[in-house]
Amino acid sequence: MKICATIEELQELLAPYRKQKRSIGFVPTMGALHKGHLSLISASRAENEVTVCSIFVNPTQFNNATDLERYPRTADDDKKLLAGAQCDILFIPAVSEMYRSGDYSLIQDDFGALDKVMEGKSRPGHFAGMLTIVNKLFAAVMPDKAYFGEKDYQQLALVKQFVARHHIPVTVIACPIVREEGGLAMSSRNRLLSSEEKKHAVKISQALFMVKAQWGARPVSELKQMVKEIFANDAFLKLDYFEIVNSFTLAELHDPDAVNEPAVACIAAYCGTVRLIDNVLLQE
Ligand code: PAJ
Repeated sequence: MKICATIEELQELLAPYRKQKRSIGFVPTMGALHKGHLSLISASRAENEVTVCSIFVNPTQFNNATDLERYPRTADDDKKLLAGAQCDILFIPAVSEMYRSGDYSLIQDDFGALDKVMEGKSRPGHFAGMLTIVNKLFAAVMPDKAYFGEKDYQQLALVKQFVARHHIPVTVIACPIVREEGGLAMSSRNRLLSSEEKKHAVKISQALFMVKAQWGARPVSELKQMVKEIFANDAFLKLDYFEIVNSFTLAELHDPDAVNEPAVACIAAYCGTVRLIDNVLLQE
């Protein structure tokens, strides 16, 4: 695996592939890699002749300074995992490389409800920062295909919309959520959980699976109440939001029409001080 830290070096490494019109697959990450990230690498490897992974803890998408500060950074382990997964190129730039001359100007696009509900509401500015770095990374890598996890469902929806709006010649590929044995969605933030907290965090995915099992049998209002109660009864957990939304527009679904729409249930909750998100598709 080749490792580079500047856009110039990256361009040099990719030049021969571009010349030969070989397809470039790209997996953007913030590091602290786990099997969820590695599943994106293998999806890219299966469909492209060269796979680039980026590791960059993007400061502009953290709306909370403490969250940025304590975000896990495990570069040495990440490099081993990526080499083991046969990633071809790792791009691991410094903040000054991605925000040159301290220019932190952000993408100002308005996506209507898509960037204002759920994560947009709870983490103001997060998506502007995320799209800014994804746009910069796309410009640096110029991939044919880019791989994103369904774990960050709203992020994926926004990236797709952004690419379509600006005619960016990148195909965005959605990859399924990878879970731990008990159901907890894999996340870099899981490392911040104590073993006691981890036992409680499992309830986040369990609540979603309960909703999926009951979908169509109980009204949305009742399902929401059931989820609220699960969290109210666990001292380790605090619900940020639980929403059942149209899986394309992310508009909130209401009784009684909800069952006829493509639906996804999305959740964000604190386990101790760690904020976790998860979702499950209810209906295609
Ligand atoms: P990060 O949280 O590191 O995630 C990188 C990619 O891995 C995202 O597409 C995310 O959805 C995917 N991913 C994370 N956990 C997953 C899981 N359990 N199963 C499947 N895929 C999973 O998302 C970001 O970084 C950043 O916002 C980024 C896009 C890199 C921009 O900074």
